Amino acid sequence: MPIPIILDCDPGTDDALAILLALASPELNVLAITVAGGNVGLEVTLPNALALTALAKAKVPVHGGVDRPLLGEFVPAYHVHHDNGLGGVVLPPGPSPTPGIAADVIRDILRTAPEPVTLVGIGPATNLAIALVTEPALNIHVRQIVLMSGAWKRGNVTPAAEFNAYSDPEALAILLGTGHPVVFASLDLTDQALATPARLAAWRTLGSGRCLKAACDIQSAVPLSARFDGKGAALHDPTAIAWLIRPDLYTARPGHVSVDLAPGPDRGRTRLDTSGHETQNALVLETLDADGFFTLLGERFASLP
Ligand code: BDR
Ligand code: CA
Repeated sequence: MPIPIILDCDPGTDDALAILLALASPELNVLAITVAGGNVGLEVTLPNALALTALAKAKVPVHGGVDRPLLGEFVPAYHVHHDNGLGGVVLPPGPSPTPGIAADVIRDILRTAPEPVTLVGIGPATNLAIALVTEPALNIHVRQIVLMSGAWKRGNVTPAAEFNAYSDPEALAILLGTGHPVVFASLDLTDQALATPARLAAWRTLGSGRCLKAACDIQSAVPLSARFDGKGAALHDPTAIAWLIRPDLYTARPGHVSVDLAPGPDRGRTRLDTSGHETQNALVLETLDADGFFTLLGERFASLP
């Protein structure tokens, strides 16, 4: 049976590839895509999610949500994702959003779903946190929470913090307190998912569909990272989706994760303790079979229109 998921996102170049991967994967039943402002403003991320869903010819509801974090100011990353959030790649516009605000829709789905639902967050955690904090009784209908978030060593938006954790640390703290172990695809994992020109060239040989082309064009527009000596760019968000599809490509271990909330240079820093002394509230994805991961993504993109 496919795993029922709600995909909360902020597309965003890597979100775009994560959305296409989820929509292409029969192992998943995407009940809804909910959208936040994050990489770029909500007025851009929401149309992007709609355009990608239409491109894949998927009949999945797409709902808008928050345009800012619970506290603090909204800090987008236009310099990475371009003004249009998709690296400048222009897609045919999608339909209007499905009525209903993200957090309300998440609660409605949890309340009525016949089986527990997996919440996947690949942007700021605000929509998911609002949904769960406003009706905590629905927690029992959550199967698991899977996030692309956090960094154990070095951040990518500040030296201390990864972008999604930094964008709404209070929301992340709420998710860490739900009692569900949160599965973390952190920067330390996604650094292993290096999208190189050679890997993208290999994808392009797999077909001529518009989704495969869009995925390749979008990822090709992502600046090569100085952190990897210009050899590629880390492909973050699809790692959270791929773990649900092919957990055999990963190793993981339990731990305790906390997030720094105090103002200052450590705000948004995620801390991992695997000593076993603290309650385990996380499952940390540690290693990734990168070749297997890129093969999976290419095959799935090529299976779409
Ligand atoms: C995360 O931040 C965003 O820029 C990406 O979409 C990803 O979700 C990586 O730190
Ligand atoms: Ca994202």
